[in-house]
Amino acid sequence: MTADVAAIVLAAGQGTRFRSDTAKVLHRAAGRSLLGHVLEAVRPLELGQVLVVVGHQADEVSAEVEARRLPGAGIVLQAEQRGTGHAVQEAVPALDPGIRRVLILPGDTPLLTPEVLTELLTAGHAGGALLTARMSDPSGYGRVVRAEAGTVARVVEHRDATPAERAIDEINAGMYLLDRELLESALARLSDDNAQGELYLTDVVELLAGQGAPVAAVVAEAARIAGVNDRSQLAVAAAALRRAHLEHLMREVGVSVTDPATTYVDVDVEVARDAVLLPGTILESGTTVGPRSVIGPHSHLTRCTIGADVTLHSTRASDAVVGDGATVGPYTHLRPGTQLGRSTKVGAFAETKNAVVGEGSKVPHLAYVGDATIGEQVNISCGVITVNYDGRTKSHTTIEDGAFVGCDTMLIAPVTIGAGAYTAAGSTITDDVPARALAIARSRQTVKEGWVDRR
Ligand code: UD1
Ligand code: CA
Repeated sequence: MTADVAAIVLAAGQGTRFRSDTAKVLHRAAGRSLLGHVLEAVRPLELGQVLVVVGHQADEVSAEVEARRLPGAGIVLQAEQRGTGHAVQEAVPALDPGIRRVLILPGDTPLLTPEVLTELLTAGHAGGALLTARMSDPSGYGRVVRAEAGTVARVVEHRDATPAERAIDEINAGMYLLDRELLESALARLSDDNAQGELYLTDVVELLAGQGAPVAAVVAEAARIAGVNDRSQLAVAAAALRRAHLEHLMREVGVSVTDPATTYVDVDVEVARDAVLLPGTILESGTTVGPRSVIGPHSHLTRCTIGADVTLHSTRASDAVVGDGATVGPYTHLRPGTQLGRSTKVGAFAETKNAVVGEGSKVPHLAYVGDATIGEQVNISCGVITVNYDGRTKSHTTIEDGAFVGCDTMLIAPVTIGAGAYTAAGSTITDDVPARALAIARSRQTVKEGWVDRR
């Protein structure tokens, strides 16, 4: 049913009002680019084709489109950005022959949902339909001027509008469903006689009305179609997206969020049933949290996979995997490549990097474990450091099952501590320690009796 519909998503503009070196549609809200949000709203519609018009930072924007792996997606280059009408003119020749209707969307409306688009698709108007909304503050948007019959006579841009037109509170969402042939005929007649000297897509509406094919208005919820033109609107949209995701987690999944106002969870983060998110928790894109785990207070996770029944108190972690039942924190830094096994413990002021820690092993306090493979049931005592860097190259430390690394041991890598072996506290270990041996590598204590009195 929607195989004969194509979407054209407009994403070529710079977004001058953002005052940014990065194209507006690449700015992120709740962990996903503005354009990504629009494409995700389109995905469930299963359209025959999705053309994204790129121009400003074309390579980066194209890469973002490709990364989303949307079926039917294609890129159209609008080398010079001469307005929204011009952008669609550039895209139309790339439409497949079987496409009968065209859904045109801006790339800067991250609150859009598939439901809103379905309303537009199923409205069933011959010539086409336009999404509108009523807004208490319509400034900046194009205003919808209705004909007496209730159809849309035309859309006037804020900058071109008279004071009377500016008083209209029905705005153009910039989202249209148009018959392909009617669209093509109207595009050929656009002019740039307006305040910005651009080819406005909005003029299509008046042109079609003038040829007896008026466009119908489908009124949507204002919150869903809001455009993001500057960083202040970006912050508002991001807050709404985060809030909606937290509502979903709380009501539909069964996650406790103690204080939603201080809990920042990106839209693609999955959190399982009976998990608890304590205040000050930030869960960034690519993170998943298993059932019953308690995250926070004050934990910040980026691209982490957290198992079931984990405790992560005041922890910063990125690209780390934490096994079921592990206890981490407070004040712990898990850096990329950390893999903590089941029931492990990593405690206060411990830092790990590129480190595999086996089941039941403990790094309870004040340690650095980098470029290391640690077996099961190993104890890394307070103050242990894997000395992995000689100023030129990184070397690996291996600690086998059941070993006990005493307090303040320096492990000069590459080095291996055998299964069940011990190192004495304060040792600097430069050579491999065989299984079940004790290594002592420190100078013997001398005691000088009565030394103070003699001095
Ligand atoms: C546009 C509409 C306005 C509507 C509003 C809804 C026009 C003339 N105006 O205004 O009626 O109320 O959206 O949010 O259409 N773009 C291109 N190529 C260009 C110019 C823009 O691809 O040459 C893209 C931008 O990257 C952006 C989208 O089109 O994603 C909309 O452009 P923007 O400049 O934000 O339009 P508005 O001024 O918001
Ligand atoms: Ca806009």
